[in-house]
Amino acid sequence: MASLKEFADKVRETASIVDIIGSYLTLKKGGANYKALCPFHQEKTPSFMVSPAKQIFHCFGCNVGGDVIGFVRQYEKVGFKDALEILAKKLGLAVPRFAVSSYDAELDQHRTILYEIHTLAAEFFAAQLKESRGRKAREYLKRRGIGDKVFHDFQIGYAPAGWKNFLRLAKQKGYSEKALEDAGLIIRSQREPVHTDGRMAAAEGETRGYYDRFRDRLIFPIFDALERCVGFGGRVLDDSEPKYINSPETHIYKKGQVLYGLHRAKDALKQTQSALLLEGYTDVITAHQFGFANAVATLGTALTEPQARLLKRYCSDVFFLYDGDEAGQNAMLRGCEVLLKRDFQIFVVTLPQGEDPDSFLRTSGKEAFAALLDAKEDFLQFFLSAAAAKYDLASVDGVEGKVKAIDLVRPLLRSVGNPIYLQNYVHRLAEFLGIHEHLINMYLKDVGVGATTSVRNATDKLAQGIQEKRLDQLHSAEKGLLRILVEHTDVRDQLKELGEASVKTDTRQSFCTDFDPEWIFDARVKKWVRLLLSGDYVCQTDSAQGLLADLLDRCEDEEEAAFLREVALWDEAIEDYPSILEEIILRLRLRFEKAKTARLSEEIQQSYTQGNQDQILPLLVSMHSDSQRIVKQLKDQLGL
Ligand code: UTP
Ligand code: MN
Repeated sequence: MASLKEFADKVRETASIVDIIGSYLTLKKGGANYKALCPFHQEKTPSFMVSPAKQIFHCFGCNVGGDVIGFVRQYEKVGFKDALEILAKKLGLAVPRFAVSSYDAELDQHRTILYEIHTLAAEFFAAQLKESRGRKAREYLKRRGIGDKVFHDFQIGYAPAGWKNFLRLAKQKGYSEKALEDAGLIIRSQREPVHTDGRMAAAEGETRGYYDRFRDRLIFPIFDALERCVGFGGRVLDDSEPKYINSPETHIYKKGQVLYGLHRAKDALKQTQSALLLEGYTDVITAHQFGFANAVATLGTALTEPQARLLKRYCSDVFFLYDGDEAGQNAMLRGCEVLLKRDFQIFVVTLPQGEDPDSFLRTSGKEAFAALLDAKEDFLQFFLSAAAAKYDLASVDGVEGKVKAIDLVRPLLRSVGNPIYLQNYVHRLAEFLGIHEHLINMYLKDVGVGATTSVRNATDKLAQGIQEKRLDQLHSAEKGLLRILVEHTDVRDQLKELGEASVKTDTRQSFCTDFDPEWIFDARVKKWVRLLLSGDYVCQTDSAQGLLADLLDRCEDEEEAAFLREVALWDEAIEDYPSILEEIILRLRLRFEKAKTARLSEEIQQSYTQGNQDQILPLLVSMHSDSQRIVKQLKDQLGL
């Protein structure tokens, strides 16, 4: 039995990243690498690179990258194991049964059975709708105007009246009552079965206490992102209560982790880059029927983190079409918080009082609905209008109201992940309330919001970015150095020796006979060069690909990994590396020495103004005899 990791290694060994990615995208060869239009962001000129030598890919436009398994995970939007299975199929490798811990293996097996039971149930319910006993349900669908196409797309079904229809079928197929109960499809009676009316009367060999959860209800199957049926919602065919009965949470169904309709909305979400977020089953179905295929629903709860993460894979904007009542608004508020953390653009669409998307579409039609979407309000505007309707903001003594309004949106602002957006929101809030921005910032800060710090971070980053731009050329040189070190073992050894040598620099013929990682400016490059040249570093393989994989493994976060991939794929192969290397090292050293001279002359200046005459002389000596001379010699060598 193989471990997951062993099998992943085998897949990596067997797969050619160019062939695999080439089966998804059109790759064009350019030098040592291949190029394509990036599938992970919109672009017109290719910045997506694939390296056959290093078996990695990287997009210089959006920073997405990784190895062949990473590509399949991100392209197919699946987990590690599923990506391995997809690759195994492409490569003709048999997928082993993975030697996972016995607990995991058991849970895995258990889940497999739950999926099977759900598939069986969905098929059963769909078939029942076509039977004579499904007539009532068919008429109900017709009355509500649910068309054939969506009806098939969403696999709507009918759970017949009676206590053990599905239970009997499933047991015939060999599923245990325990498994069916775990799947949430049957329920054990709390009381002893009712004998008098005979409805619960059990056939031979059946446990009396179990009965079907879904009886005489229209059935809406719920699918996860991988399009597996994981649960059901069942609606009554009349006005009785409860209107809906839903599957309980199980090992395969967590309410907060699925979005109803996602399996039919994926393409439209990507295409429009926006999601219509609705509340109910019928709303989604009707929206799809009217051509709004980017509609999904949270099924009567507030949007959760996992759902936001799920949405982020497909789109950047979310339109809330929730009920306008207090409960709906609160659910929206909480949903916004979650979405703002992930940089979504959020809009609120207001439906006429008493309408939901389903009823509105049926009575007013497609164009009217599209017009409503057009009339969307940005979320901040929406909540500020709500506050204006609720509190007195206009009058001079509306101070209390203004504070209440800020309090209302405070949790939202606290959630904003993107500091640039935050600044914009604070600005608009200030305008709307007629309060100075810095007061709002102070107020947010006083109540313990991290808002102002993130703005400060943003400013710092900006300044750093400007500085980095000026250093761009040298920066490239540093990246080049790292790149050469990764690719050439001999250079690594050579530099290691130079670094350890105790011989004085000026006794050598060339200045490029000395090297110190301290000369490197970029902390990221410095870190890797240090590691590569340190005596402690051992990598099992000498190949550039193996080494890079090892370094990528050591990355602390995705940002670090993206940087490494960028360096590895940046530009064409560096062929004339010995001469380039020399120039790079000379330039790095020149910058370092110049900075040192500048520091020395500053110290001299200081000693002079402070009257520390005796300190000046040694400083002058060291500046002239060492640093300046070194700088001059370096310049000569570089032909500057
Ligand atoms: P609604 O009451 O708005 O129902 O609940 P609906 O979706 O518009 O259904 P129709 O149009 O009356 O047929 C919105 C969602 O809240 C959940 C369901 O997911 C429903 O789609 N809900 C509602 C329940 O889970 N149980 C209930 O009893 C009611
Ligand atoms: Mn409705």
